[in-house]
Amino acid sequence: KEFEYIKTETKGRVAILTLNRPKALNALCTPLMTELNAALRTFDADPNIGAMVVTGSEKAFAAGADIKEMSTLNFVDNFKNNFIEDWTGVTKIRKPIVAAVNGFALGGGCELAMMCDIIYAGDRAKFGQPEIKLGIIPGAGGTQRFTQAVGKAKAMHMVLTGDMMTAAEAETAGLVAKVYPAAELLEKAIQNAETIAGYSLPSVLMAKELVDASFEMPLAQGLLFERRLFHSLFATKDQKEGMSAFAAKRKADFTHE
Ligand code: HXC
Repeated sequence: KEFEYIKTETKGRVAILTLNRPKALNALCTPLMTELNAALRTFDADPNIGAMVVTGSEKAFAAGADIKEMSTLNFVDNFKNNFIEDWTGVTKIRKPIVAAVNGFALGGGCELAMMCDIIYAGDRAKFGQPEIKLGIIPGAGGTQRFTQAVGKAKAMHMVLTGDMMTAAEAETAGLVAKVYPAAELLEKAIQNAETIAGYSLPSVLMAKELVDASFEMPLAQGLLFERRLFHSLFATKDQKEGMSAFAAKRKADFTHE
């Protein structure tokens, strides 16, 4: 399928989605987000895909929501149209989404990265929630997911000053899983996604669902949910395969059943 603002390709069981609006530093205009959500949903439903990578360019993952598009919006329309709500489609994808962030991930760009399941960063990446400089505030998770990732002190600093955080700072703070040299980032992100996509899909989906549930559930309920799903995985062929492969000292060949 042809898209205007993104490119998609597949490598084995990994889908790679590249934001492709270079003249605007991948500013996330509405049609771009519509295309991204549509492509993610298609790969989520594709039995040959086990994980997705979302990336941008070397200069920018995404410099935010499209400021030019937003400049003429007004409250009543935003409210009636539930502006930005459709971005949450990213969080309804069940397969893991890896964000590979080179360059700027600002405002909605940082929020998009945080909607993904793992953020890997190039060593020159910059993260920030600079909305305060525009007379607004983050609107797609910046005050919530950023705080969950890095804690109150750093979140307050970032959201109230609009300062940027380097990749190294973001890794130390817990926003980013790993930092790689910028030129190697995409390859490493794809390798990690391939590793994930090679595991049994039911176990991968359950693992993602449970980590996400830990942000929503009291500990006792989260632990019970985990134990029940753990029990259920013993109904899969892949559990038999994984454990017999270990005993036979061979690599497991998962069929995702
Ligand atoms: C629209 C943008 C844009 C954006 C950059 N551009 N960011 N257009 N929306 N968010 C455009 C510029 O207007 C310019 O187009 C071109 O991209 C190149 O940008 P420059 O500013 O010339 O590049 P540079 O000097 O290298 O500076 C890079 C930058 C700066 C530091 C990232 O572009 C910047 O500060 N951008 C805005 C970042 C921001 O405030 N993001 C938060 C947006 S609010 P022209 O045509 O002039 O050459 C937000 C709200 C989210 O995200 C709420 C819910 C989703």
